[in-house]
Amino acid sequence: MKSFGANKVLKGVDLQIRGGEFVGLMGPNGAGKSTLIKILAGVYEATSGEIRLGGKPVRSLASSSDVGFIHQDLGLIDGLTISDNLSLAQPPKRRLGPVLDKRAERAEAAQALRLVGLSMSVDTYLSDLTPGEKTLVAVARVMGRGANILVIDETTSALPPADAGRVIESLALAARSGATVIMVTHKLSEILNATDRVVVIIDGELVQDAPTAGLDRAALVEMLMQHESDAREINTRAAAGEEPTCVLELHDVCVGKLGPINLRLNAGEVIGISGLPGSGLHDIAFLVNGSLKPERGEVVAHRQGLKRALVPPYRESQGGFGALSVRENLSVSSLWRWRRRGARLLSPRRELRDCAKIAADLSVRPRPMDVPFDTLSGGNKQKVIFGRALLAQPHLYVLCEPTRGVDVGTRSEIYRLIREMAASGAAVLVASSDAEDLFSVCDRVALVVDGRLQRLRQVTEMTASELELMV
Ligand SMILES: Nc1ncnc2c1ncn2[C@@H]1O[C@H](COP(=O)(O)OP(=O)(O)OP(=O)(O)O)[C@@H](O)[C@H]1O
Ligand SMILES: [Mg+2]
Repeated sequence: MKSFGANKVLKGVDLQIRGGEFVGLMGPNGAGKSTLIKILAGVYEATSGEIRLGGKPVRSLASSSDVGFIHQDLGLIDGLTISDNLSLAQPPKRRLGPVLDKRAERAEAAQALRLVGLSMSVDTYLSDLTPGEKTLVAVARVMGRGANILVIDETTSALPPADAGRVIESLALAARSGATVIMVTHKLSEILNATDRVVVIIDGELVQDAPTAGLDRAALVEMLMQHESDAREINTRAAAGEEPTCVLELHDVCVGKLGPINLRLNAGEVIGISGLPGSGLHDIAFLVNGSLKPERGEVVAHRQGLKRALVPPYRESQGGFGALSVRENLSVSSLWRWRRRGARLLSPRRELRDCAKIAADLSVRPRPMDVPFDTLSGGNKQKVIFGRALLAQPHLYVLCEPTRGVDVGTRSEIYRLIREMAASGAAVLVASSDAEDLFSVCDRVALVVDGRLQRLRQVTEMTASELELMV
């Protein structure tokens, strides 16, 4: 059991894991998954209950060299080589007295890389790797140290599908050769493709524990939604109206390696753009938002006082005010809404009412709005930043990775809200590496390749596999 103050986050979870099993851990945002992993890692201490490893009670699993943790922030250093990253925090190999045995370190690193199917030189700098390769290096690091129990918390949530696929494949391979894997994820395909068993935690309680064989997407969704009363069906896309009104246009815009980019954003339309990491995908979003200035070309607003709102791609480092409350994080961009007529003062009652409504629509947990943003779970942080953009009621929404890390129920709620934005006449740009975002809410989509934005295509003309291939 684990409580934070009066908040009971884990309510007596009993879980046994056998050696060699690949267990997927799922559940809505704020269910307690990361808290459970942090208790195993010794970051938090359980309020009550115990952990046993091989039958023996232990304080946490962190002290055992058998167990390796991979957190979302991988703990690798970009300015070092793969070999140096792998030997970080390991006792140095010595040849004679203080002379380090670099050869032995490099040989061990090469062997660890082979375990995850990477074949580049161990002298490659981490900064030259793709995000997926970096994640594989993090897996290699724990496996190279002899860990045969791997504990992974949403490590793939920020990876494009192809990279995520490689990481999952290498974990599945480790499991087939005898390692035990415990993995938190919101992605149904990862559960179905790789795990032997799925455990669902909802509201701090373990509510399902079943073999994966025999389950399909529909069965998983049902398991996840059984306690979700406020999850709604995805609406069908609103039909396109008459001649569109352009609200903002990029005209031959260049910045860094990007460009020239031409793009028109129309009222009532959701445009989706996608691309690999490093493609400049989010830079296009920042150009549209006005937070990045073009070196050449023009960003033309087609209406006076065009109001824009941005959901940035990395909620941990951008956009959230950790020490401020959920309510303050929601309302900070919209204080004008609650100004009393003719007065300088705000109406806190109306502010609270509007914030509470948005928080309820997005099922932000926990419910009290005075808790610090920092204490929210990953997915709930995302919801608050999304809610802030909604409250600002802009003419143009710029949404980067809008569903990163949110649970299945909230994902469809976010899709519904995006369609509502467009239906109420706003223009929406979704910049996402998640194929589902593109085909679930966008009217037209295009890929960013080699610094250029390819032709926009109607999503209805594309098949699901074409879209999957795009990203
Ligand atoms: N340090 C903390 N102080 C207070 N409350 C916390 C703290 N850490 C987590 N919580 C609360 O515990 C609950 C569970 O959070 P946790 O991070 O375990 O969720 P999660 O299942 O990992 O969700 P997500 O899918 O969004 O990552 C949340 O309500 C969160 O607000
Ligand atoms: Mg979490």
